[in-house]
Amino acid sequence: MLKALNPESGGVYVDATFGGGGYTCAILDVTSCTVVGLDRDPAALIRAQAFKTNYPDNFRFVQGCFSDIDTLLLPYAPVDGIVFDFGVSSYQLDEADRGFSFRFDGPLDMRMSQTGITAADVVNTYSAENIAQILWSYGEEPRSRKIAQAIVEARRIKPITTTLQLANIVRQIVKRTDSLDPATLTFQGLRIFVNNELIEIDKVLRKCLPLLRVGGKIVTVTFQGLEDRVVKDWYQSHRQPNATHPSLMVESVFKKPLSPSFEEVKNNPRARSGKLRAFRVCSTQRTDIP
Ligand SMILES: C[S@@+](CC[C@H](N)C(=O)[O-])C[C@H]1O[C@@H](n2cnc3c(N)ncnc32)[C@H](O)[C@@H]1O
Repeated sequence: MLKALNPESGGVYVDATFGGGGYTCAILDVTSCTVVGLDRDPAALIRAQAFKTNYPDNFRFVQGCFSDIDTLLLPYAPVDGIVFDFGVSSYQLDEADRGFSFRFDGPLDMRMSQTGITAADVVNTYSAENIAQILWSYGEEPRSRKIAQAIVEARRIKPITTTLQLANIVRQIVKRTDSLDPATLTFQGLRIFVNNELIEIDKVLRKCLPLLRVGGKIVTVTFQGLEDRVVKDWYQSHRQPNATHPSLMVESVFKKPLSPSFEEVKNNPRARSGKLRAFRVCSTQRTDIP
């Protein structure tokens, strides 16, 4: 991420998926700049307090959804770079009470913002067709229909309120030969739906160009193909002048997306499927005419 962003002294950078602040810390530790952290999760706000103590002059935090970046970050614009590390944080995954993981028993919640509909609301009230559609579209789960049917049958006997209850229903339907838990794609699909994740990514990318200086960078790290596809589609429509921002466009910094190094995967096995892309904001105005 640092290689792509290349933060400079005096610059203003946005860590739009603050989480536990790993990216913020990495940026602030290499140069004397300002980082504005952003996260929708109220738990991230608590972690951000410690950063305010450690970096009193160089760190700010804004709580909210990054799809509102145009209003949330207006006071800090123009900025020199925005980094995104999409998906769920290890803090969210590892806390049973947040209901993101099939590894622990917890309430079937999955809400990053801790507001709105929960995964339990979806599995207990949506039709089998709608559940199947969610698992297929956002989890790319090949057995989506069978799983949705099993969910609807199970909830007739007893509401599905916990992560392990749901995981065990799925495990009876899906048998995998690889090391992935059979419930992985179902949980992914529900999480992406509950948090409106793909639409959030699409919206923020469409809104962030006017917040950046010309020459500023957008760095995206994605962990699965659906997220990466949204980034690629956005790039395709913004690599030339675009009706929304006719004077701005982006160019890709690297020829190909970067994958994590062996060392990075060793330190953080969850990084193994990561893909980093970096884009530079350019002006579409010709500067060669006197
Ligand atoms: C993969 S984690 C980021 C981890 C972070 N880079 C670190 O080093 O700790 C993604 C974070 O983005 C946040 N997030 C996801 N979607 C968001 C959205 N639409 N708006 C704001 N924050 C979001 C999540 O709450 C989560 O904390």
